[in-house]
Amino acid sequence: MRILLVVSGSVAAYKALELTRLLRRDGAQVMAILTAGGARFVTREALAAITGERVHDDLWAAEAEIGHIRLARWPDLVAVVPASADLMAKMAHGIADDLATCVLLATRAKILVAPAMNPAMWAHPATQANIATLRARGVVIAGPDDGPMAEPESGPGRLVEPGALRDAIHAVLSDGPLKGRHVIVTSGPTHEAIDPVRYIANRSSGKQGHAIAAALAALGARVTLVSGPVAQPDPPGVAVARVESARDMLAACEAALPADAAICAAAVADWRTAREATQKMKKVPGEPPPPLDLALNPDILATLAAPGPRRPALVVGFAAETEAVVDNAIAKRARKGCDWIVANDVSGDVMGGAENAVHLVTEAGVEDWPRLPKQDVARRLAARVAEALA
Ligand code: C5P
Repeated sequence: MRILLVVSGSVAAYKALELTRLLRRDGAQVMAILTAGGARFVTREALAAITGERVHDDLWAAEAEIGHIRLARWPDLVAVVPASADLMAKMAHGIADDLATCVLLATRAKILVAPAMNPAMWAHPATQANIATLRARGVVIAGPDDGPMAEPESGPGRLVEPGALRDAIHAVLSDGPLKGRHVIVTSGPTHEAIDPVRYIANRSSGKQGHAIAAALAALGARVTLVSGPVAQPDPPGVAVARVESARDMLAACEAALPADAAICAAAVADWRTAREATQKMKKVPGEPPPPLDLALNPDILATLAAPGPRRPALVVGFAAETEAVVDNAIAKRARKGCDWIVANDVSGDVMGGAENAVHLVTEAGVEDWPRLPKQDVARRLAARVAEALA
């Protein structure tokens, strides 16, 4: 793996050092270009020490040595980490006025961009338009994450953490066992409107489903993630369809077919209101609360698992139970017609938590997996999916 790292001006630039360390540990060769803005936040000496290579920071000095075209031809991937709003604007418009932008314009390698900036800069229509342009050209946009910033402020704009960036880079370069396969993953809760301001929901965070989508992509799969409303960042390199209700989720899944596998990790609301009020329901003093009539939602898992020409070869459901976890999962597998059920006990802190202890129920029997971080559960499951589709 040959990675050309472009470090531009952001207080998050120090995280590029940790990313380099992780990539080199994976056996990658890393060369770095430091922009003038980037050099305000990390030193060329630190980057040289951690890459083990000479750092390129000047267009004309580079011309005398290896030249920006040779530098552009060298990598398998150019990773812009962190990417400032200014650098992305230049990329979107083909401006080439320093070494980084010349190389970015000249390279035919894959490009991954990890934005980092103030939330207002990120939300600005100019930045959003530039991102859309880059994405349409096939640039992979990793993040940004949502959270506290250097300034006393919070919101989307944080650089994705180095570990997740490393996974994203592996996913982009993957020649993995799921290359050429398409997998649909559902994730998160659904929101079922009661009226224009109220809805029925549940505590699902989308952590497990999003981690599964990322793990499948890391093995080379083309992933469509159909996500209910969650606070999770989009996994890099994954096509995300955002939906609200169960009926929207089913429509998005059906629109994403055909697929080799479907992993239904979403906590779909079982019921919606029988009639959605078009105006906010009024609380009338002295009157009892209005009854809430419910209607059954479509079962997305059972629909995808139903026999037919478009049924994915492997359909996997989840079972969130608070009692008789395995017995209920075995019964659910038969009832839903899916191939596997990943069963977990949600009586503790699983929903929204970082870890999960699951049982994999297949035709062959039940496997009890140890309690693991949700990312590790996702990696294990993705590896099993790859095995099953091989
Ligand atoms: O029936 P139950 O909700 O316990 O089943 C859970 C499994 O079914 C999960 O995989 C969930 O994603 C899926 N499901 C679905 N559509 C529903 C309800 C559940 O896809 N309406």
